[in-house]
Amino acid sequence: MCGIVGYVGPKNPKEIIFNGLKALEYRGYDSAGVCIFHDGGLKRIRAEGKLSVLEEKLEGEEFNGHIGIGHTRWATHGRPSERNAHPHNVKGVSIVHNGIIENYLQLREDVLSQGGVLESETDSELVAHLIAAEIDKGRDLFTAVLTVAPRLEGAYSILVVSEQFPGELIAFKSGPPLIVGLGENAFYIASDIQAIVSHTQKVIYLDDYEVAHIKDGHVQFYGLKGQPLKKTPVVLDWTVERAEKQGYPHFMLKEIFEQPRAVAAAIDPYIDVQSHTLDLGELRKENLKDLQRLYIVACGTSFYAGMAGKYFIESLSDVSVEVDIASEFRYRKMHLPEEALVIFISQSGETADTLAALRRVKEQGLKTVSVCNVKNSNIDRDADYHMYMNSGAEIGVASTKAFASSLALMQVMALGISKEKGLLSSEKETFYVKSLLAAPSLMENVLAYNRFFQEAAKDLKNYRGFLYMGRGVHYPIALEGALKLKELAYMHAEGYAAGEMKHGPLALIDPSMAIVMLAPKDELYEKTLSNLEESKARGGQIISIGTGEDERLKSLSKNYLAIPDPGSWMVNPLLEVIPLQLLAYHVACAFGHDVDQPRNLAKSVTVE
Ligand code: G6P
Repeated sequence: MCGIVGYVGPKNPKEIIFNGLKALEYRGYDSAGVCIFHDGGLKRIRAEGKLSVLEEKLEGEEFNGHIGIGHTRWATHGRPSERNAHPHNVKGVSIVHNGIIENYLQLREDVLSQGGVLESETDSELVAHLIAAEIDKGRDLFTAVLTVAPRLEGAYSILVVSEQFPGELIAFKSGPPLIVGLGENAFYIASDIQAIVSHTQKVIYLDDYEVAHIKDGHVQFYGLKGQPLKKTPVVLDWTVERAEKQGYPHFMLKEIFEQPRAVAAAIDPYIDVQSHTLDLGELRKENLKDLQRLYIVACGTSFYAGMAGKYFIESLSDVSVEVDIASEFRYRKMHLPEEALVIFISQSGETADTLAALRRVKEQGLKTVSVCNVKNSNIDRDADYHMYMNSGAEIGVASTKAFASSLALMQVMALGISKEKGLLSSEKETFYVKSLLAAPSLMENVLAYNRFFQEAAKDLKNYRGFLYMGRGVHYPIALEGALKLKELAYMHAEGYAAGEMKHGPLALIDPSMAIVMLAPKDELYEKTLSNLEESKARGGQIISIGTGEDERLKSLSKNYLAIPDPGSWMVNPLLEVIPLQLLAYHVACAFGHDVDQPRNLAKSVTVE
């Protein structure tokens, strides 16, 4: 998905660009590079591997220019290697690119037929060739960019500098985010605000088909047809959150432990702690009383939070909820009723498929709600109504605390809709609000058992595969547990609705298979226990998560992990997900994997 950074200004560009890349490393971490003016020309340094490799290569390197660009890569076209790392330089033109150029085969033909020699296997290098060819024809950098941009199909945000045009940097985009920070005689350009906020809080968000042209200390904005644009800066109010592990060995572990705080911060704007009442805020402007259909659209972990949301909302109201994976939703033929409300859940607020799905829905005139962690992200800015996870920066690529916040917000949504519809008695409102308020301290209790989860994880390394199962609202949590193990430990794990066991998964079960069963004491408990008996009878090794001292469950399990009884079924998922996250974390650590940056993944998926 890649992170890009540009800097124009009086300070040391090497430091600013490298630190910017550090803040964006979550977007991609298979190779990286910088290209900065030095002695009137461009000096490029690239490295395969994590940013630390580039850091070593940059040590002792001097750059005396004041303009530069940098890139941290998540490979799309061409395997991770120094040759394929950005920036791509062609005849004095240097570019960095985030996105995918879909018509690259055609452009490749064009470049080769003009005698171009390709150094990499990337789609991005073609852009540098095309711009260099326009400059060869006598065009200036700006005109060259405007001539090339309409030929690019797909998603891109691109920064360009050129030896022939020192003092200039051009940024243009169609798809992935690009932000221009306005400093004291300086400009900071990046894929994400996190690379900018420590320098300036005055920023301009570039929209699609827009160009920022920085020249001789000024910035001008244009449409891709060259028409000048007036853009108004946004002044942010961000406290700069330092990405520090605060004594934890990994960001992920720190973030798992931050979940009680994240949940408290997510529910805080909606709850009156004195009266134990709940208010949906701006969403009350919508006619929720008559709401009949609701859609929830998301990807990855956010999708599973949406699935849990369906159980919460449908249990407390008469609204019927459909939950969709954004990459399916955006292309499927659908008949969305005009009065339906559509919720988009996204930690980053930038996931390409979720954003495209949101835009599709908006075109049809439906009302949209964003549930995001990153304020001012594309999804947040495009939606009609906004809910915030308030989890604080999530650095670990595998999402944890944002999941907990999203679950809590889905509960707030369910309660709010039910209340607006007159379906929630004040006794029930008090009960559910009190139980939500109690959730963070119960989560602390579960976290206190980390040592036991670590112990239980020791045994898990040796299994051939895993089935994570649950019924009802525990089914999406089982899916999330399996996803965490896949992402972190690179082991095959499948999440299943426990009731589906007889329709396939039972065939997989033998002593090399671990069954991770969510079996809290709720109305489906007996049925879940029957499923466990069936698994055990076939030699499956059972790790179960249940409520308190459950002797029956314990006797069926090789390993039994107890969580406290929260008194409310809705709070249970917030507790039971913790052991699942910690099991995956400890198994991955036992293998020696990089849990914060699992192989082949990226935190923010800004391409399809
Ligand atoms: C990536 C991340 C996941 C995340 C998913 C959706 O796959 O690695 O952790 O759940 O994207 O991201 P979003 O930002 O839209 O929640």
